[in-house]
Amino acid sequence: TEPLKIAVAGLGTVGASTVKLLTEKAELIRQRTGRRVEVVAVSARSRGKDRGVDLSTFRWFDDPVAMAADGGADVVVELIGGSEGPARRTVETALETGRHVVTANKALIAHHGTALAKAAEGRGLSLAFEASVAGGIPIIKGLREGLAANDITEVHGILNGTCNYILTEMRRTGRDFADVLAEAQALGYAEADPSFDIDGVDAAHKLAVLTAVAFGCPVDFANVHVEGIRHVSAVDFDYADQLGYRIKLLGIARRLDGGVEQRVHPCMVPKDTPIAAVDGVFNAVVAQGDFVQRVVFVGRGAGAGPTASAVVADIVDIARGCRTATFGVPVDRLSRLEPLPMSAR
Ligand code: HSE
Repeated sequence: TEPLKIAVAGLGTVGASTVKLLTEKAELIRQRTGRRVEVVAVSARSRGKDRGVDLSTFRWFDDPVAMAADGGADVVVELIGGSEGPARRTVETALETGRHVVTANKALIAHHGTALAKAAEGRGLSLAFEASVAGGIPIIKGLREGLAANDITEVHGILNGTCNYILTEMRRTGRDFADVLAEAQALGYAEADPSFDIDGVDAAHKLAVLTAVAFGCPVDFANVHVEGIRHVSAVDFDYADQLGYRIKLLGIARRLDGGVEQRVHPCMVPKDTPIAAVDGVFNAVVAQGDFVQRVVFVGRGAGAGPTASAVVADIVDIARGCRTATFGVPVDRLSRLEPLPMSAR
């Protein structure tokens, strides 16, 4: 069999780690898929930078869109980020020219997921985005494949590692917000624009993607209620602790009569629940299905290794010949669910 050819757009921490993983585990991947998976082209803004990985054997493109069109790849891996600009054009071009797409870009899927799914499914291509939600936790596959036999009534969880890291450190050490944020940025957890993390936008992007997969509805980012963690202060942790709670930024999506409610805000979580104990950069997702009942997924929600692990899992699916079921329901049969206003609970 011909090797599966990969082009990687974007060589930040996740991009470099993806190339490293594909190189180091080439033999394992060949054994597991029965096919060689080879990086053939890469694209990033600066060519000279040392990324700790040998890029010399790949074709280099300054323009990721040109690479998507002419890089000779079967799969374009988009790790540029952002819902518009080069990331969007790269993905659209890849699909238009008949290439599968693997992306970690939650903003892109949150804003354009339904249209991109239409473009992919119409051509028999995969649009895979496991890495876009909760980093290394296989939550998209977990919901879409693992829980495919259930009606899901609720999904909620800790979806932003930077916020969870900040909330954890503030509570444990009393350090201030800005100081811990700077550390999360230095560790490579935060978004390029960290206001997306702390204002809840990143969690809302991920929640919108999870909602579509959990309930089989179009992605509806515009109707997510969003509040971040800027207003949480040291004293709040003390009060919460005395009352038996932890403070967590949660994303919550509930299927209610006639519609769906999506919300992101700081929550008081009882200390004796599994997610109250999820600290630091870890994420957690709780899903409630009618037959399986409650399932809890926990793992690292950000960082190079965990995110690359999810990116490569999607590449492995494609190498095995499995076409991704995008949102779990063919895109022209997603059910329109009314956005519901936030209820009290
Ligand atoms: N900035 C994100 C987070 C990265 O902190 O969770 C993973 O999407």
